[in-house]
Amino acid sequence: MVAAKLLLDKKREGHALGSAEIREFIDGFTKGEIPDYQMAAMAMAICCRGMTDRETADLTDAMMRSGVVLDWSDLSLPTADKHSTGGVGDKLSLIIQPLAAACGVAVPSLTGRGLGITGGTADKLETIPGYNASLSMDDYRKVVSEVGCSMTVQTAEICPADKKLYALRDVTGTVASIPLICGSILSKKWAEGAQTLVFDVKSGSGAFMKTREDSVTLATAMVKASQAAGRKAAALVTDMSEPLGYAVGNANEVAEAIEALKTHCGTEPSWISLSVELAALMVSLAKDLPLDEARELCWTKLRDGSAYAKFEAMVKAQGGDLDAFARFCTKPTFKFKIQAMRSGYVTQVDAEKVGRVALMLGAGREKTGDKIDPLAGITLAVKVGDKVAVGQPLATLEKSTEPDGLEKAAAELYKAFQIGSEKPEVGSLILEKIV
Ligand code: URA
Repeated sequence: MVAAKLLLDKKREGHALGSAEIREFIDGFTKGEIPDYQMAAMAMAICCRGMTDRETADLTDAMMRSGVVLDWSDLSLPTADKHSTGGVGDKLSLIIQPLAAACGVAVPSLTGRGLGITGGTADKLETIPGYNASLSMDDYRKVVSEVGCSMTVQTAEICPADKKLYALRDVTGTVASIPLICGSILSKKWAEGAQTLVFDVKSGSGAFMKTREDSVTLATAMVKASQAAGRKAAALVTDMSEPLGYAVGNANEVAEAIEALKTHCGTEPSWISLSVELAALMVSLAKDLPLDEARELCWTKLRDGSAYAKFEAMVKAQGGDLDAFARFCTKPTFKFKIQAMRSGYVTQVDAEKVGRVALMLGAGREKTGDKIDPLAGITLAVKVGDKVAVGQPLATLEKSTEPDGLEKAAAELYKAFQIGSEKPEVGSLILEKIV
């Protein structure tokens, strides 16, 4: 058995661990031979001393091998997936995954449930009556092969080491470490088996990484480690200071994504252009196409309805009923509107504050296992840069359980808005590109 104490001494002194040492440590931890306290000490040593790129790649590989690793080599199509570090109103996967599939890339996408202010794609999709976001691995394979994309939650067979390690990190102050974050996110994505990975690393108040610098560091580390492991990878660092789109919640976000997939014309809001850019990176890398060509193809497949057709086919294959969803969205709910108290230009809609209010309304989970209200959420009426007059609506808050708490939540939501007399400059959502 690996001499855990020696490896702890070595990392504490700032030396790089060997590939076999990392593998044995993670293997021992997964099997329960290395106790939690030694793994927690190792996590802290990694937090304080860091890891080289090679060690990070070895850690990720060892964590990936702690469970099932999927292989899609029997498919005739190249495989790709997009991972977002999570944000507020982030419904981009609902557009990107079917769009890339419509461009001839297979998209096996294991997705997550929401925690805290970060929403989860599985929770959003489960608001579609009948949609099964907990497919067996066999059914998941079938949907990917037949439709070209599938979105389902990761099963316990994928990366058990990450589940165990994340629970320890959460209570030992060791979440904020680039090699550990990299290992955690990448091991799950690598195990999913897609050969091309595109990362959307969010930056700003509503993101896990608050500063641009930290987001670039994480994005660069994930791209480098994935490339070193033989995958094609790229990342965009994108702004998360304001929610994406107008809807923040679950059913309302799905409705907004469906609307975008169906109408696909006219002037494109920035979040749709960002979706196209991320899909274009997937298509360009997976199919070895120049990025301009891939971008053109994506716009065509969005505008000619092919991406919506893929989305419809995926939902149907996973048991979902979009007509029933449309009826579900018209169910009566308790609503509260907030209005502008002064005129001027919207200079800020703070993503974190909006996310916290959505959580108060029941759209998210405080802790794993909490039940969510699928119809709870916020629909913004304005975005940064918009001109508003006194009394003009800023947002509508909604919940389906009971009206209690709506007014308190509304008072909090006011704090997310700043209105000034000067029109602010609205920059691109894309802050950096790492290829
Ligand atoms: N998300 C993950 O899956 N793991 C981390 O360590 C941080 C964010």
